[in-house]
Amino acid sequence: MRLYLGVSGAITMLEPADFRRLDILVDPQINGRLEGAIARIGRREGEGHVWLHPQILRFLSGHAGEAEWEAGFAGMLAYAAKAGFTNDEGLVRAHMAWVEDRELVSTDDFKAAMRALPAGIAAITTMDGDGPAALIVSSLTSISAEPPMIGFFVNESSSMAAKLLGVQKFVANVLGHEHQGLVQTVLSQPQGKARFADGIWADGHAAMPVLQDAVAAMECDIVHNWRLGTHRLFVGLIRSAKSRTGANPLVNFGAGIRRLQLEEQA
Ligand SMILES: Cc1cc2nc3c(=O)[nH]c(=O)nc-3n(C[C@H](O)[C@H](O)[C@H](O)COP(=O)(O)O)c2cc1C
Repeated sequence: MRLYLGVSGAITMLEPADFRRLDILVDPQINGRLEGAIARIGRREGEGHVWLHPQILRFLSGHAGEAEWEAGFAGMLAYAAKAGFTNDEGLVRAHMAWVEDRELVSTDDFKAAMRALPAGIAAITTMDGDGPAALIVSSLTSISAEPPMIGFFVNESSSMAAKLLGVQKFVANVLGHEHQGLVQTVLSQPQGKARFADGIWADGHAAMPVLQDAVAAMECDIVHNWRLGTHRLFVGLIRSAKSRTGANPLVNFGAGIRRLQLEEQA
């Protein structure tokens, strides 16, 4: 099995059922975050090794509790103990291997490619002790129908990231033609009540602002978040949803906010 400390910030396991080897693959682009990643899985020894907690390996494998996998894993730990790769604390030693430097696309080329992707626009809203908060996103996406989940990505530097981590709730308000002014207000005003000067807002079930004439509005509890590069993914379990038919949505495309006009259906 191989632990992978990736440039995205994620720690994952590759080849969880290969018990003949144990090592840690490290992305060279992980830069200043390597020590933090190692602290999450164990303790560094010198330049090239890490003492790992077996429980973390079991968790990341996704197979803990499966009899066949558990037998293989126990066999690997027994082999490691015999070979002197375990210590008195029950930790197991693994070698770090560095992924060859991979060429990555430039930020400009990445942005150009993403500008070619049409994406709906939503106002994410929440409420904390400082009052209401809003953020315009084009990253809202469907995740799962059962249980019903949606997600979106927030820049870690945005004022919304810490608020969402604090209150663990949000409303995703999908926007239409009539909300162009609202988008400009949210984008241009400082975080807080000023961002709600445009639009008809009312409190939803969890006292968060819901846009009354939204194309769709979904009130959610945050059930998962994950830092990935510059952004954090927030996943919401949808507690209530309303939508209206016949609405004309706003779409982010080609570095601009466009109005998608629905054609009459034949
Ligand atoms: C069309 C459009 C889509 C956007 N999508 C996102 C997004 O998905 N995630 C994000 O973090 N910011 C997104 N932004 C940027 C934020 O709306 C904006 O920069 C934000 O106000 C900055 O953070 P602040 O709340 O701290 O002022 C988008 C902006 C526009 C105009």
